[in-house]
Amino acid sequence: MGIFSRNRNNDTHTTETATVAAPVKLAIVYYSSTGFSAEIAKEINDAAEKAGAEVRLLKAAELAPEAAIASNEAWAAHAAASADVPEATPGDIEWADAVIFGTPTRFGNISSQLKQFIDMLGGLWAQGKLANKVYSGFVTSATTHGGQESTLLALYNSIHHFGGLIVSPGYTDPVKFVDGNPYGTSHVDAQGNNPIGDQTRNAARHQAERVVQVAAALKAGLAS
Ligand SMILES: Cc1cc2nc3c(=O)[nH]c(=O)nc-3n(C[C@H](O)[C@H](O)[C@H](O)COP(=O)(O)O)c2cc1C
Repeated sequence: MGIFSRNRNNDTHTTETATVAAPVKLAIVYYSSTGFSAEIAKEINDAAEKAGAEVRLLKAAELAPEAAIASNEAWAAHAAASADVPEATPGDIEWADAVIFGTPTRFGNISSQLKQFIDMLGGLWAQGKLANKVYSGFVTSATTHGGQESTLLALYNSIHHFGGLIVSPGYTDPVKFVDGNPYGTSHVDAQGNNPIGDQTRNAARHQAERVVQVAAALKAGLAS
């Protein structure tokens, strides 16, 4: 067999002496109105790339009317700053081995924009194409007890329907005892006054690395 010829699943590159696994394909799909969730998404993107993943950083399409966005300075500024971020499509989820969703909490639930994206996955779900992937989530809120856990648990409801494997961070690293949220990376923005700091960034990096590590093991197992 020739050097770097592909196996029949196109999942590994085989040489005469070794089999090198193809990188984990990670889709990060987030919604963010004022930029906090977007910043966590970027941190996860960078950490996942460092961990060897091929990453697509994608935003859920905006649903709010222009007038609502324009009425909020931070929202309008972030909409302009993130104009170049590609919008997620169902094809991105089909492509991915692992998906990390992110959202601001909205009354203790996920944002309608992210939910709308998830609701567009029905076609893939019907074909069984959402199953056997790794999923995880992160969240931002204005207040400490403002619904971070309930938002992530609400997100994870859908993953059960997908037949996906939820890889939450748990307390699998010392950084998790600092941020204290085993369900996923979370940040309290204190009404926009608390920038993303080391505590959140450390948690985001750990979540990215853990998702890539488990997804790589799953991908290798499924390919064997
Ligand atoms: C309609 C709406 C509902 C919200 N509900 C909550 C909530 O239940 N609890 C909370 O702490 N913050 C709530 N927030 C605040 C946002 O979740 C918070 O500011 C978040 O960090 C913004 O993230 P982003 O910058 O990525 O948009 C709400 C904001 C809006 C606009």
